[in-house]
Amino acid sequence: MILPACFEGKERAARLEALRAKAIGCRRCAHLASFRTHVVFGVGNPHARLLFVGEAPGVEEDRLGEPFVGRAGKLLTSMIQAMEMEREDVYIANILKCRPDMPPGTPGNRKPTQEEMKACLSYLRTQIEIIQPEVIVALGATALEGLTGLRKGISAMRGAFLDFHGIPLLPTFHPSYLLHNPSLRFKRQAWEDLLLVMERLRLPISERQRGFFLAKS
Ligand code: URA
Repeated sequence: MILPACFEGKERAARLEALRAKAIGCRRCAHLASFRTHVVFGVGNPHARLLFVGEAPGVEEDRLGEPFVGRAGKLLTSMIQAMEMEREDVYIANILKCRPDMPPGTPGNRKPTQEEMKACLSYLRTQIEIIQPEVIVALGATALEGLTGLRKGISAMRGAFLDFHGIPLLPTFHPSYLLHNPSLRFKRQAWEDLLLVMERLRLPISERQRGFFLAKS
C-alpha cells in the first residue's frame, strides 16, 4: 500500500520510536548494558536524505543519551552547518548504541569489539530501512568496518563512494581524527568528501563553499 506523504511521515517516526523502545531494553551485551547510563539510539529527521554513522557513544553521549554531543560532536555539527544544513535535517547514529565499557577510573574510549558490533548492527540496519537515506557517510574506520566488514584504513577508502545495499556510502575521517590531526590537508580532504555528498544530493554549492580549507596562495 502506498501511503500519502503525511501518513508515511508519521509512520517512519512511529517505527523509529518502536525500535528505540526495543533498543532501550536491549541486554544483548550484558557487560555494556550494566555499564551504560543511556542507550544512545540516534537523533534527527526520520526523513533525512543524509545519514551520518559514527563509532559508539563516548562519555558525554552516554551521559546525555544523544550521539555526537561532545567535542567531536561539536565539530560534526559545524561540518553539517558548513553544508548549509542543521543537525535536525540529517540523521545521526552510531554502530554501537552503548558506550564501550572501560575499567573504573580509566579515561578515554575503546574501540568496539567485532562481537559487540555484530550484536548491535541489526538496530542500525533497521534504522536505515526505516529512514531510507539517499547517502550514508561512515565517520572513521570503525563505522566503515561495522557497516561493510571492510577493515581498511580510512585514508585509503575515503573520497569514493561504496555501495551499502543500494545506498551510496562515503567513508570519511572521524571528527575525532580531525581534532587530533588539525592540519589543513585533512580538513580539506574531509570537506572534499562532504562536497561529493552535496553533489550526490544535488544540493546547491557556492563558490565560497568550494573554497573552504584551500591553502591560500
Ligand atoms: N564518537 C562517535 O563515534 N560517536 C559519538 O556519538 C560520539 C563520538
